[in-house]
Amino acid sequence: MFIGGEWVEAASGDHFPSDNPYTGKPWALIPRGNASDATRAVEAAHRAFTSGEWPKFNATRRGALLRKLGDLITEHSKALAETEVRDNGKLYAEMSAQTAYMAQWYYYFGGLADKIEGAVIPIDKPDTFNYTRHEPLGVVAMIIPWNSPLLLLAWKLAPALAAGNTVVIKPSEYTSASALEFMRLIEQAGFPPGVVNVVTGFGAEVGTPLVEHPKVAKVAFTGSDATGQKIYEAAAKGLKRVSMELGGKSPNIVFDDAQLDNAVKGVISGIFAATGQTCIAGSRLLVQQSIHDQFVDKLLALAKTAKMGNPMSLDTQVGPVTNPPQFEKILGYIAIAKGEGAKAVLGGAKATRPECGSGWFVEPTIFTGVNNAMRIAQEEVFGPVLSVIPFKDEEEAIAIGNDVVFGLAAGVWTQNMRRAFTMSERLQAGTIWVNTYRAVSYLSPFGGYKRSGIGRENGQDMIYEYLQTKSVWISTATEVPNPFVMR
Ligand code: NAI
Ligand code: MG
Repeated sequence: MFIGGEWVEAASGDHFPSDNPYTGKPWALIPRGNASDATRAVEAAHRAFTSGEWPKFNATRRGALLRKLGDLITEHSKALAETEVRDNGKLYAEMSAQTAYMAQWYYYFGGLADKIEGAVIPIDKPDTFNYTRHEPLGVVAMIIPWNSPLLLLAWKLAPALAAGNTVVIKPSEYTSASALEFMRLIEQAGFPPGVVNVVTGFGAEVGTPLVEHPKVAKVAFTGSDATGQKIYEAAAKGLKRVSMELGGKSPNIVFDDAQLDNAVKGVISGIFAATGQTCIAGSRLLVQQSIHDQFVDKLLALAKTAKMGNPMSLDTQVGPVTNPPQFEKILGYIAIAKGEGAKAVLGGAKATRPECGSGWFVEPTIFTGVNNAMRIAQEEVFGPVLSVIPFKDEEEAIAIGNDVVFGLAAGVWTQNMRRAFTMSERLQAGTIWVNTYRAVSYLSPFGGYKRSGIGRENGQDMIYEYLQTKSVWISTATEVPNPFVMR
């Protein structure tokens, strides 16, 4: 682990294995942290926040460090991507693009660091000068999932450091290696010791004590809604700030006036890319009744060609599932869907193709005959499983689209401009994509409605999620007036 600028073992001395999802075999040993490690890391981060060099850095200097980190990421992006693929099984083709793109978060928030300005308030009191300052919160705990470990970390780490906070990171127990590797770049960039720390281990053993530590000011989390709720409850006890990016059951809505060949690609990218293991998965295909059969045929034709296998091969299109519990969960939902009467028109089982070897692969699966009340339409599967739900008209598409507890994203496929605007307005989700899917950027806010989350990430306003505002009053009066009356 990386605590106070030093590479250390867990206090217990224990380790646990991390597996390669393509081989199904362990490839790394990760320190198994507990409460005393969480405390050590928070104390180090707190020391770095209150003493030493970091609090003396001006914002321009913090920005320069972040940009240097961006350069180091650019230089090492291929190696970082290889570590991600070995640990979570996602395609190298996607992860190498992602680790290269990730540098932009550090450039962008690095550039923003010294452009955060307070205000001079035209205050309504005589002989008084009033102004505001935007100050960092202190120690921020970041709890990271396994699907895009370093990118989802960047969404939090770049604004938090730009704002002047210090950080303790707890990566997922399934994908801890990349966060540890990334600390070598933090060292090289020259961040003072304790500004960024990593503790590894399991949620209950090291995650909970980290969240509960009284010196943690904020918890930034991405993961399941169930764990998000637990962390929210724990944070509430300490009245801590939270930002939460949770699950989804996003509708991808195809109207009969859409360019169907584009829509097919958009639907595929929404559910089979990343083996469906994304919070923004377009896991419900809402298709207008009049084109239902035609569209499903087109979808099947393309989905059937998906090449599975080694995620490091550039021509692989669907890789393995990241971990055995997730693999079992996906197969469990496939069984549930069949039990509910949905019809698997594609896949519907674990993949036994020779190119899948001993890895954890699930066949790309499409269910028709789904109605929105079924569990397969309501609950996040987080796998390559698409539910097809027909609808009659706009009103019904909106009603079905919004009838889930989540609200992370929605896709709309139409060539009708009025419809594009109306749907974008009425769908309850933090991101709406029209005639595209799965686009994100450091420039544009991302986050959830309803149970999909609290707060936003990305875009310049989001730095305020890592700042607090101070109002300063300075009297220029020569005499303090009557002390028994508030003015
Ligand atoms: P999770 O939400 O339980 O884990 C995410 C992170 O939280 C991990 O670092 C984990 O160690 C940590 N954690 C777990 N319990 C904690 C606790 N009590 N206190 C502090 N930290 C804790 O997700 P998991 O188990 O990896 O996957 C379960 C489901 O979550 C998936 O099937 C999927 O539906 C969903 N998921 C959603 C993601 C998203 O991007 N929205 C990402 C990964 C999973
Ligand atoms: Mg792993």
